[in-house]
Amino acid sequence: MIVGVLKEERPGESRVAATPATVQQIRGLGYEVVVDPGAGVAAGFTDEAYEAAGASTGDAVTADVVLGVNAPAPSQLDRVRPEATVIALFAPVFDQAMVDDLTRRPFTALSVDAVPRISRAQSMDVLSSMANIAGYRAVIEAAHEFGRFFTGQVTAAGKVPPARVLVAGAGVAGLAAIGAAGSLGAVVRATDPRPEVADQVRSLGGEYLSIESPEAEVSKTGYAKEMGDDYRAREAELYAAQCREADIVITTALIPGRPAPTLITAAMVASMKPGSVIVDMAAANGGNVEGTVRGEKIRTGNGVTIIGYTDLAGRLPAQASQLYGTNLVNLLKLMTPGKDGSLVLDWDDPVQRSVTVVRRGEPAWPPPPVEVSAAPAPGPAAKPVPPAPEKPETTPGRKFGGVAIGALALFLIAAFAPAAILPHVTVFVLAIVIGYYVIGHVHHALHTPLMSVTNAISGIVVVGAILQTGHTSAAVTALSTVAILLASINVFGGFAVTRRMLAMFNRS
Ligand code: NAI
Repeated sequence: MIVGVLKEERPGESRVAATPATVQQIRGLGYEVVVDPGAGVAAGFTDEAYEAAGASTGDAVTADVVLGVNAPAPSQLDRVRPEATVIALFAPVFDQAMVDDLTRRPFTALSVDAVPRISRAQSMDVLSSMANIAGYRAVIEAAHEFGRFFTGQVTAAGKVPPARVLVAGAGVAGLAAIGAAGSLGAVVRATDPRPEVADQVRSLGGEYLSIESPEAEVSKTGYAKEMGDDYRAREAELYAAQCREADIVITTALIPGRPAPTLITAAMVASMKPGSVIVDMAAANGGNVEGTVRGEKIRTGNGVTIIGYTDLAGRLPAQASQLYGTNLVNLLKLMTPGKDGSLVLDWDDPVQRSVTVVRRGEPAWPPPPVEVSAAPAPGPAAKPVPPAPEKPETTPGRKFGGVAIGALALFLIAAFAPAAILPHVTVFVLAIVIGYYVIGHVHHALHTPLMSVTNAISGIVVVGAILQTGHTSAAVTALSTVAILLASINVFGGFAVTRRMLAMFNRS
């Protein structure tokens, strides 16, 4: 079969559905590839690069499998062959007119924005790929507009405080924004009604602002539900306080199937400092910020810039095309079980069923719901974990008893042993006491490096024992031989362990 890669007709679209690298992967599945002339130019991929990857340039829309980013233009759809399969972002959830149009056509239409959010479909999840890029780009756009550093600095000309960034919604785009803003040196805070994201926010260096409300609960689907009045009132208080402090606000709040919730009111925008920047990523879906203009950048009366771009992923066209193209390759792998260049649509597979809008002219939208597994559902009554047995505490009585026995033993040795032994015994006892307290307070993780240090002590033992081997008493010679043996094990074992540890840090 032939796979065709379309040149996007939508004005301003810079992405392309396949890059030279993904063309090679598609060919590895047994397909031939035809690319529309100039299809990748806006993303930086020349026709020659595609040809070098094994594709030919030609009329892509008449191929057996047609790949696009956006829904192809009507003039393109009119030329698709009846037995062909078209794969693109048809947005059937939002665009009923498109679903109706496709239903009137004889071919098969698969919409990759309908890939369900389940673990095994992650490699095909184009919405997450694009949201990840868009979250990163939102920070770049904000940094470009913001007239100051993100990172704090102490310079000869004065101290610069770090920028304060607030991210509303810690889904895919929000987490990408937190990571990007943090890596530029900003102080990042984020909030989300799903408390399970708190650890993810922290792992990216952000501070999670929790809203104490019974409605904020762990999601079973990975998506937030519509929040009630109590939560909305509390979050409004939080946003009002944060907006007064923040330099940058990035909003990504989304509730599937609903218009974007309004989080930042006009009054909150009016309370922000002049020069602050808001990026409203939900602009295409109604916006999270009052005053956002879809697709535009505006400046409010108090000097706050509100960015409502809806093409943030496309503003990194090479990266977006590469990730989108890789998602499509993974979908093609699923639908090419024989790796023989023939596409087989398996409707029993929930991923393939979910993306099918029309199958050979037969309406297939909406698909049956797929149970998503973003968060583990509470399982059957978990077996209670028995509490760990408590460590017997050293009671003061036992402690004093031990000290008394030690003191008595020392007294007896001092009274009856030869005088020459006494200094050795004293040093020995002191070494035990000091060693016990010093090593007992070293963190467990450092016990292995500590063992390397004991090599030096064992070296002293070896030297002392060697000096004793010539002793007239056979018992002393035997003891010193055993001491040399044991201390040598410690020395060589220590070196071996140290070597292994250092190898773990060796980059090569
Ligand atoms: P997602 O579903 O992974 O994340 C949305 C997050 O919003 C979820 O974590 C959810 O819990 C949270 N949320 C819901 N209600 C909230 C509230 N009241 N306060 C705070 N958080 C709330 O969605 P994803 O993929 O991260 O996309 C985020 C937004 O970015 C969407 O609106 C999407 O359409 C948009 N987007 C915009 C692009 C652009 O170019 N402007 C490009 C890609 C995505």
